[in-house]
Amino acid sequence: MKISRRSRVPTFAVMDILAEAKARAQAGESIVSLCVGEPVTGASEVVRSRATELLAEGDLGYTEALGAPALRIALAQHYHRWYGATVDSGSIAVTTGSSGGFLLAFLAAFDVGDRVALARPGYPAYKNILIALGCEVVEIDCGPQQGYRLDAAALSAASAAGPLAGLIVASPANPTGTMMSHAELAEIARWCADHQVRLVSDEIYHGIVYDQASWPGASAVEETASGAIVVSSFSKYWSMTGWRLGWLVLPDDLVPVVDALAGNVTLCPPALAQYAAIAALGEEGYAAAAADVAGYGAARDVVLAALPRLGWRQVAPPDGAFYLYADITASGMSSPEYCSRLLAEAGVALTPGTDFDSVHGQDWVRVSLAAGASNVQEACARIEKWQRG
Ligand SMILES: Cc1ncc(COP(=O)(O)O)c(C=O)c1O
Repeated sequence: MKISRRSRVPTFAVMDILAEAKARAQAGESIVSLCVGEPVTGASEVVRSRATELLAEGDLGYTEALGAPALRIALAQHYHRWYGATVDSGSIAVTTGSSGGFLLAFLAAFDVGDRVALARPGYPAYKNILIALGCEVVEIDCGPQQGYRLDAAALSAASAAGPLAGLIVASPANPTGTMMSHAELAEIARWCADHQVRLVSDEIYHGIVYDQASWPGASAVEETASGAIVVSSFSKYWSMTGWRLGWLVLPDDLVPVVDALAGNVTLCPPALAQYAAIAALGEEGYAAAAADVAGYGAARDVVLAALPRLGWRQVAPPDGAFYLYADITASGMSSPEYCSRLLAEAGVALTPGTDFDSVHGQDWVRVSLAAGASNVQEACARIEKWQRG
């Protein structure tokens, strides 16, 4: 029987590393896993107890396709709290994780054959969802040679081969942790508006930022007036990965489009997660998330202090998110070999850069700081020892 060509998207090398790390741990080996971008803390107490109450109350039927009005209002208030922005709750679409948000946003904004640009290295799902939807992905190198930056000149160069319909940006970025300043994001947004390019800004790591001067991160929320889409999630800052809850802030023209698509594709996001997430947007929820960020900051300090001894040639500026992206060319190994041997010989699981960059990724590995400072400390000690042979 037929299997569609569009469904042939790659799986991730990290899944193999993860499976092997789990198998080794189950077999009794001591494994430090720094390969997954998932906070170990889990949802805050206030969210979990609200979910327990909701289960006891029992009414968890479908909500509106764009999400429960009370959560959309709480999210609009969140934009005022963090960015001083006035957002109409009617322009917010609650989604099944930001992943579900990407699918809806790309379906709403792009047609088969449209050229959509994104940074390389980058979060692989953007590219793979776009491919599955029949779009042409235009990758723009944003490694050390480009100062890890996407700018108007790079966008003009990328559009020389044909007009772009869209641009996906992420700040803080996965896997590098690098961030765009307000001025840099504004320049990109202006270029997009001038060239009729739909800007999609992934702000899932907002709040996980290590320099208070750039906290919580530059948002494209004010740019929705000129067509931009903001994507975010409860997964990272609020440590609610498995609750599968994210959201979009949409320009006016896309609200009815996403409403119709969401109603058909998912009916609605998970009701239990939606109602419980309102508690994440209260004082206790924000306080618990801020405490987690302090923990990632401590883990980041541990790696930065260990850097001279880790044998890594250079690292991308880890300004935000909970990742550090390091150049391992000095090891003489490709990143898949480096990660596989590091796991087998030292019991440390990292992610090979090939998951994020099909061109230069063999030279890089991603370290997740989400496992906390003590795990990161142990991993650094093991890597140092392993490197010395
Ligand atoms: C940059 C980025 N965007 C989006 C996602 C998807 O997250 P979720 O679907 O849990 O909101 C991830 C997950 O790792 C990510 O790193």
